[in-house]
Amino acid sequence: MFDISGKNAIVTGASRGLGSVLAFGLGKAGVNLALVSRTIPTDLIQELQELNVRVVAYSFDFSNPSRIPELVEKIYQDFEQIDILVNNAGAQRRSDSVDFSEEDWDYVINVNQKSVFLMCREVGRHMVKARHGKIINMASLLSFQGGYRVPAYAASKGAVMQFSKSLANEWAKFNVNVNCIAPGYMLTEMNTALVNDPIRSEQILVRIPAGRWGHPEDLIGTALFLASPASDYIHGITLPVDGGWLGR
Ligand SMILES: NC(=O)c1ccc[n+]([C@@H]2O[C@H](COP(=O)([O-])OP(=O)(O)OC[C@H]3O[C@@H](n4cnc5c(N)ncnc54)[C@H](OP(=O)(O)O)[C@@H]3O)[C@@H](O)[C@H]2O)c1
Repeated sequence: MFDISGKNAIVTGASRGLGSVLAFGLGKAGVNLALVSRTIPTDLIQELQELNVRVVAYSFDFSNPSRIPELVEKIYQDFEQIDILVNNAGAQRRSDSVDFSEEDWDYVINVNQKSVFLMCREVGRHMVKARHGKIINMASLLSFQGGYRVPAYAASKGAVMQFSKSLANEWAKFNVNVNCIAPGYMLTEMNTALVNDPIRSEQILVRIPAGRWGHPEDLIGTALFLASPASDYIHGITLPVDGGWLGR
C-alpha cells in the first residue's frame, strides 16, 4: 500500500530546500517527475535520471499566476497523467508590519496562496475526471500561529490550510485526496535569517521538544505516505512534521 513506483508527480519549488529533497525522495520511490521553479535544477535532474525515472523541468515564476493554466497544459502534454501534485514552492518576506509593503504582500500571496490554488484547480480538474489523485500542499506552523514580522506569509499559509479543506470536501468523493504538510522549523535557505540571528535561533530551538531543527529529509516519509494508497481515506488534514513544536 506504500508502492507508488511508476506514478507521475509534479513538484513545485524543487530547485533547492525541501522541494529538492522531496523530489529526490519521490524519485527513489520510482516516481516520474515534472519539476517547476524559476531555476532549472540541473544537478538534481542528473541525480534523478540516474535513478531511471523520467524527469522534465519547467522554468516558471509563480509570482505571475495567470500563466498557470498554460503551464499545466504543457505538463499534461508531456506526461498525459498526473497522479501526485506537491505544491511546495514558497516565498518569504520579513519586515515590521507597519513597514510591510504592498508589493511584498502581493508577491507572497501570489506565490504561496493564489498559485497553489490555481495549481490545485488546474490539476484537480484532471484528477476529478480521472477519479484519482493525491494533492499535497505545503502549509506551515504559521497556518496555525501568527509568526513574527511575517504577516503575508502567515496569511498565505492559513489560507492554504483552509482552502485545502474546502477542496477536500468537494473532491474526496472522487478519490482525490487533498492534504497539507506543516513543516516545523527546517534548515533551509528560507530560514537563513533566523538561523543567523543567535537570539531568535536559540528561542526557536528551546521550544522544539525534539531538541533540534528539522532536516528536509524529515519530511520524506510523510510525503510518501500522503502520496500513496496508504492514505486513501485521509482528506483535508494538515499534518505537522515539527519535532513536537505545536504540542508544546
Ligand atoms: N523551511 C522551513 O522551515 C519551512 C517551514 C514551513 C513551511 N515551509 C514551506 O515549505 C516550502 C519550501 O520551503 P523551503 O524552506 O524549501 O524554501 P527555499 O529553500 O527558499 O526554496 C523555495 C523553493 O520555491 C521556489 N520558488 C520561490 N519563489 C518562486 C517563484 N516566484 N516562482 C517559482 N518558484 C519559486 C524556489 O525556486 P526558484 O528560486 O528556483 O524559483 C525554491 O525551489 C515553502 O512553501 C515554505 O513556505 C518551509
